[in-house]
Amino acid sequence: MARVAAETKLTIGGREITLLRPDADERSPLRAWTAADRLALDHLAEISPDGGLGNVLIVNDQFGALTVGLAHAEPTVWSDSAAARTAIDANLARNDCHVLGDRVVAGTDMPAGLFDTVVIVLPKTLSLLEYQLGVVASVVHAESRIVGLAMARNITRSSLSLFEATLGTTTTSLARQKARLVHASPNALAPASDPFIAGDGYIADGGVHVASSPGLFSSDRLDVGSRLLIDTMIAADELMTADLALDLGCGSGVIAASLAKRSATATWTLCDVSDLAVAAAQSTWERNKLGGPATFIVADGAAGCDSASFDLVVTNPPFHQDHAVDNALTERILAEAARVLTNEGSLFVVAQRHLHLHTRMRRHFSSVDAVSKHPSHVVIRAVEPIR
Ligand SMILES: C[S@@+](CC[C@H](N)C(=O)[O-])C[C@H]1O[C@@H](n2cnc3c(N)ncnc32)[C@H](O)[C@@H]1O
Repeated sequence: MARVAAETKLTIGGREITLLRPDADERSPLRAWTAADRLALDHLAEISPDGGLGNVLIVNDQFGALTVGLAHAEPTVWSDSAAARTAIDANLARNDCHVLGDRVVAGTDMPAGLFDTVVIVLPKTLSLLEYQLGVVASVVHAESRIVGLAMARNITRSSLSLFEATLGTTTTSLARQKARLVHASPNALAPASDPFIAGDGYIADGGVHVASSPGLFSSDRLDVGSRLLIDTMIAADELMTADLALDLGCGSGVIAASLAKRSATATWTLCDVSDLAVAAAQSTWERNKLGGPATFIVADGAAGCDSASFDLVVTNPPFHQDHAVDNALTERILAEAARVLTNEGSLFVVAQRHLHLHTRMRRHFSSVDAVSKHPSHVVIRAVEPIR
């Protein structure tokens, strides 16, 4: 049955905007905006009824609720997600607003200018919050207003301490619909931030040097699922015979780098939705002096990769979008894997056993088998993609 995408409407300052969450359909409880988005937009409309917010910077908008809601201010949008940038542009167009053009700044780049209003959705990890607040501190002035937003349960003492230490006096609003705002007043203009460079992560099995970046998945140790996938692949014939291999959702690049170190047969492509993750993956590749000419792509799924172009795809796929479990995201990653795999190729996926991912994989592949098991995780091999 065809799934119907769910549009939701949001009224801000008397104006109705229409938003679509790309993966969600009518049955999905997930929406393109949160109670925190709404609280922040209502607060900004209240304190500045004439819309005079000055030069506005929006950080981590997920689907465009904030950017569309503040479109009149022509905000600069700083986002580390290729998927978010696409969704924001689509929702701007849906509401007859100008698309971002050069007002969008990738996660590894620095927003340029001086901002009077900064609206920042608190990211899932403290490391990304710390990095982003450090950069924000260098592009605000003493009268700038900084508004953080999140569901109240995700505003921790540690995140408030980061606001306080990086920016200055910090207070929180009352909660509304379980969402809360964080208000920070900058003390003084901080010096300009250095351009981003990936840092040291850890040394994985086989002496693989893994780089890190803010917000990266399992940035200080090898994830148990990734280890099981790597160990399984090292023993698999497919690794030795593959010509073109893809690490889908590569994060630090630890899976592809570990496998490239064991077998130089395949030419690798590494892709991830996050600019910061792909920068770490690139650095991991360089640190291990993996001679092969790898390709690094920032993309939603495997966008930018041709259909039926890889004879090996490996993935430790995402199961969450921000804090929420997002089955539709995992489903799309599996569909992307099926799309880019050749008819003769093999996909290897690692997942927690309780998720029963193999059942969902049968929608996309004719043949699906568990090839190695661990108490908590399983590696599943799938062949014969269903087109
Ligand atoms: C479970 S982590 C695995 C990371 C890495 N492969 C490892 O094993 O350490 C999943 C990765 O998928 C990425 N991801 C999330 N959504 C994505 C999307 N729509 N397209 C591509 N990658 C995505 C995340 O940024 C994250 O790096």
